[in-house]
Amino acid sequence: MASKFLLVVGAIVGFGMFTVVNGLWTNIRKARKTGLPYVVVPCSPYNALWQLSFKIWVPFIQLLPKSLWENWLFILLPDWGYNTGQEHFSRIGDSFLVVGPGSMNLTTQSPAAIHEITSRREHFPKATDHYSILEMFGRNILTTEGSVWRFHRKATSASFNEKNAAHTFSEAIHQAQGLVAKWNETAQSDSPTINTIEKDTMTLALNIIGYVGFGLRLTWPGETIPDDTDPRMRKYGSHTPPPGHSMTFATSVELVLHHIIMLLLMPTPLLRFLALFMKAPRAAYEANDNYVRYMREFLDDKIEVAKEDAASGRRSGDGGMDLMGQLVRGRYDDETAKTRTGAKKKTDTIAAAAKTETALTDDEIIGNAFIMMVAGHETTANSLHFTLIELANNPASQRALQADIDRLLGRDSDPTTWDYEASINSMLASMLGATINETLRLMPPVVNIPKWVTPTADQPLALHETGQTHILPAGCDIVLSAITVQRHPKYWPTSKSASPDLDSFSPQRWFEKEAEKKDTTSEIVGADTEDYGGFSGPDTSAQLFRPVRGSFVPFSDGPRSCLGRRIALVEMLAALAVLFQRYSIELAVDEWADDKTVEAMDNEARRTLYSRAQARSRETLRGATTILTLKLHGTASVPVRLVPRGQERFVHCVDA
Ligand code: HEM
Ligand SMILES: *[C@@H]1O[C@H](CO)[C@@H](O)[C@H](O)[C@H]1NC(C)=O
Ligand SMILES: *[C@@H]1O[C@H](CO)[C@@H](O)[C@H](O)[C@H]1NC(C)=O
Ligand SMILES: *[C@@H]1O[C@H](CO)[C@@H](O)[C@H](O)[C@H]1NC(C)=O
Repeated sequence: MASKFLLVVGAIVGFGMFTVVNGLWTNIRKARKTGLPYVVVPCSPYNALWQLSFKIWVPFIQLLPKSLWENWLFILLPDWGYNTGQEHFSRIGDSFLVVGPGSMNLTTQSPAAIHEITSRREHFPKATDHYSILEMFGRNILTTEGSVWRFHRKATSASFNEKNAAHTFSEAIHQAQGLVAKWNETAQSDSPTINTIEKDTMTLALNIIGYVGFGLRLTWPGETIPDDTDPRMRKYGSHTPPPGHSMTFATSVELVLHHIIMLLLMPTPLLRFLALFMKAPRAAYEANDNYVRYMREFLDDKIEVAKEDAASGRRSGDGGMDLMGQLVRGRYDDETAKTRTGAKKKTDTIAAAAKTETALTDDEIIGNAFIMMVAGHETTANSLHFTLIELANNPASQRALQADIDRLLGRDSDPTTWDYEASINSMLASMLGATINETLRLMPPVVNIPKWVTPTADQPLALHETGQTHILPAGCDIVLSAITVQRHPKYWPTSKSASPDLDSFSPQRWFEKEAEKKDTTSEIVGADTEDYGGFSGPDTSAQLFRPVRGSFVPFSDGPRSCLGRRIALVEMLAALAVLFQRYSIELAVDEWADDKTVEAMDNEARRTLYSRAQARSRETLRGATTILTLKLHGTASVPVRLVPRGQERFVHCVDA
C-alpha cells in the first residue's frame, strides 16, 4: 500500500521535474538562437505558488553560497527594477532574455528598442493578457488588441480634445480648491498634521475624472452639489448612500480598486460566503455589488438620454467628455436612426447599419467606463501624491516652483480666472511642467509596459547599443522597463550642477539645453503611424531638455500610448498651481519634536531636524510597490503639513 503511494508520488514528482527541465531546455535553445544574453530562472515569477510562498523560500535560498543565486534570484522578486535600478542591467546588458520553464521574455531598457517596439504595433502588440484583471466588468480599450481595440479606441478618442482639456483645467482648479479647503481646515485644527495625502489625492482625481469624463458631480465633504445638476446625476455625488445602495458611489469605486485582486481571484459565491464572517471580503463584495448597480443605473440613464436625443435630433451634452453617453450613443443613435423617417440620407443609414454590427455591448460600455475611471484616477493621483512629497523633500525646488507660479499666474490672482489657452503652454514649460516630468521619470505609475512578439511570425529587432539585429521568436513576451530606462546614465545627463544623481528628484534637470533630437519614427520599418486620436502635439517648446526617444515613457509611446496624457498633465498642472500659489507643503516632524520645541529652534537646528524627516520620507518612498500601479500600498505614508506661504517652519530655510 505504502509503496504504491510512494510510486504515485514519485511518478508525479518525476513528471513535474521532467516538464520543468524539458521546458527550460526548449526555451534555452530558443534563447541561444537569438544571440542575446539570457538569464535562466527555475520557475516563472508569475507562478501563483511562487507568488504565495516566495517570502518563505527566499531566505533559505539566500543561505546557499551567493554565487548560486545572485545572478537570477532578483528576477523572481517583485519590483526588482524599482528596487535594484541599474545594478543587473549594467552587469547583463540593456536587453536580455529571461528564460523560465514555461515562459520566456525579453526585458529591455534600451531606448531605441523601446521606441521601435512601441512603434511597430502589429509586430509587437500589447500583451493584453497581463491586463485581464482590468476586464472584470467587460472588454475595453486598455485590454484588447487588433480590430477590437481599434473599435474601442475610435469610440472613445474623439472626446480627448483641447476643448475638454480646457474643461479639465477649470474643474481641476475647482477641485483643488476643495482639497486646499480640507487641508486648511486640518492645518488650523489642534492636530494640524495631514496623514491622508494618498486618500485625498485619490478623491481629487476621482472627482475630476468623474465630472470631466462622466458629468458626475462629486464633491468634498461639506460641499453641496450645485443646484443646476441634472436630478438623475445627483445620487452619484451624494455623501450618504442613496436609496437602494449601501455605500456612496465614490466609496464603491475606492473599495473596488482597493480590493481588485481579491475580486478578480475569488468567484462571487465564495466571496459572498466569506463576506458573512470576514471584513475584507465583505467590503469587497459590497463595493462590487454597489458599483455594478451604480453603473447599470448610469447606463440606463444615458440610454434614456440618448434615445430622447436621437428622437428629437438634439444632443444634450453636459459640457464634458461624456464618455458613457458617447459610448451609448454609438449604439442607440443608430438603432433609433433606423426607425426614424425622412430626415436620414441613405449613406447615413448604411454607415449606421455597419456600425451597429460592431457596436459595443453593455458590458463593454461598463468596462470602458471602469477603465477610464481607473486609468484616469489612480495614475494621476499617485503622481500628484509623489510630487507633493518630493516637493516637501526638496525645499529649493518647491521655492523655485512657487516663483514660477507667481511669475506666470500672479501670487494674488483668483485661480477661477486662470485661462487655459493663455496659460497652458507657459505652465508646461515652467517648473510646473518640469516637476511633473521629474516625478513621472522617477516614479512612473506603470513601471513595466508589457508587449509580445506577434504569435504569427518571428520578428527582427535591431539593438543600437550593439549594432546587431536579433530575431525574436514568435510569441515571446516583452517587458519594457520604464522605471529603469528613465534613470539610465547613458541617456540622462548628471554632470551639471542642476542634475544630481539620477535617483534624486531634481526638476531643474529638465531645463538643461540639449541639441534637438530628430524624430526617427518615420525610419522604422513596419511602424504603425496611423492617427488613433488623442492629443499628439508637443508638450512644450523644443528649447527644453528633450530626452532621447524611448528613454522617457511614463505614458508609453506609439499607437498604444496613453489616451489621457493631455488630460492628466493639465489636471496635475492646475492642482499644483492652486496648492502652491498660497501654500507650502512641509514634512511633519511630530515624531521628533512638538510644535513648541520647533518654535524655539534656530535655523540650524531646524535644518538638522528636517533632515531626519527627509531621510524618513525617502525611505518610505523607497518602499513603494506595484499592485496595478506603483504607489505606497498598505499603511505606509508620509505625514505632511500645509502652511500658508510666509509662515513656513522649514522649507524657507532648508536648501536640499
Ligand atoms: C499621470 C497619469 C497617467 C499615466 C502615468 C498614464 C499612463 C499610461 C500608460 C503607461 C498607458 C499604456 C499602458 C500599456 O501599454 O500597458 C496608458 C494607457 C491608457 N491611459 Fe493613461 N495614464 C495616465 C492618466 C490617464 C488619464 C487621466 C486617462 C483618461 C482620462 C487615461 C486613459 C488611458 C487609456 C484610455 C489608455 C489605453 C489606451 C489604448 O490602449 O489605446 N490615462 N496610460
Ligand atoms: C519577465 O520579465 C519580468 C520583468 O523584467 C521579470 O521579472 C520576469 O522574471 C520575466 N518572466 C518570465 C520568465 O516570464
Ligand atoms: C484657512 O482657514 C482659516 C481658519 O479657518 C480661514 O480664516 C482661511 O480663510 C482659510 N483659507 C482658505 C484659503 O480657505
Ligand atoms: C516634459 O517632458 C516632455 C516629454 O519628453 C517634454 O517634451 C517637455 O519639454 C518636458 N517639460 C519640461 C518643462 O521640461
